[in-house]
Amino acid sequence: MKLDVAFLPSLFRQPGQHVCVVVDVLRASSSLVVLVDRGVEEVLLASSIGEARRLARERPQYLLCGERGGLPPRGFHYGNSPVEFAALELAGRRAILCTSNGTRALARAAAAPLVLVGALLNATAVGRAATEAAAAQGLGVAVVCSGDDGGTTFSLEDALGAGAIVDAIVGLGREAPRLELSDAALAALTLYRAHQGQEHQPEADAPSVEAALRASSHARDLEALGLGEDLSFCARRDAFAAVPYLQRDDGGRPMLRRYSSASRG
Ligand code: MLT
Repeated sequence: MKLDVAFLPSLFRQPGQHVCVVVDVLRASSSLVVLVDRGVEEVLLASSIGEARRLARERPQYLLCGERGGLPPRGFHYGNSPVEFAALELAGRRAILCTSNGTRALARAAAAPLVLVGALLNATAVGRAATEAAAAQGLGVAVVCSGDDGGTTFSLEDALGAGAIVDAIVGLGREAPRLELSDAALAALTLYRAHQGQEHQPEADAPSVEAALRASSHARDLEALGLGEDLSFCARRDAFAAVPYLQRDDGGRPMLRRYSSASRG
């Protein structure tokens, strides 16, 4: 099975031949993992703040969530904070989400036969789900980083998240088909494994994943906005087993629900 990483959405080629895992560790994909874990039934993706507001007017029972510059736009119920979502009672609720990079990357990946949402928070669960679905359909797996600046700039935290997911897939061992890692997948894996902290590499002065994530430019911006709690939250590998996946609603609009192997039909 081919295992690739696209460090930017524009580098994701041949979508028809891959199960795609979209990663936006800070913070859209981490938020989506928490939302579906908390029991949110569906998350509609909006491509702009204006569209999100229009959707919310038509669906007053939906929670309107998202960010611009890291903060909730005027009139939104919530921003894009996984820490905040984790503290809410959300079972059976529906939401609308619009973020700067993550929701755009998801919309761009929609041509793939299956699009899953991955983060450090669910690295092993999403790695397993992607591998099983790809093996069943004779496809490869592509982990796609959302990046920054509208998907045009490399993002360190997404590369770390992609590396954790590659590490999880490699860790499936005999449970996974024979793997063929692209150079980009190897680079992400190497980056991730170099940040396992001194617990795993006592002889080396290896920094932790959280330290690397905190050094990223987006993390520094979030810290400056007083959203530093989201950083330690999003740095926890495998804190959740929930995996969101992309679907279309009756009107063809992209939305996310919780994935199970029965979801692939
Ligand atoms: C994004 O989609 O760019 C984000 O998730 C930004 C953020 O809220 O930190």
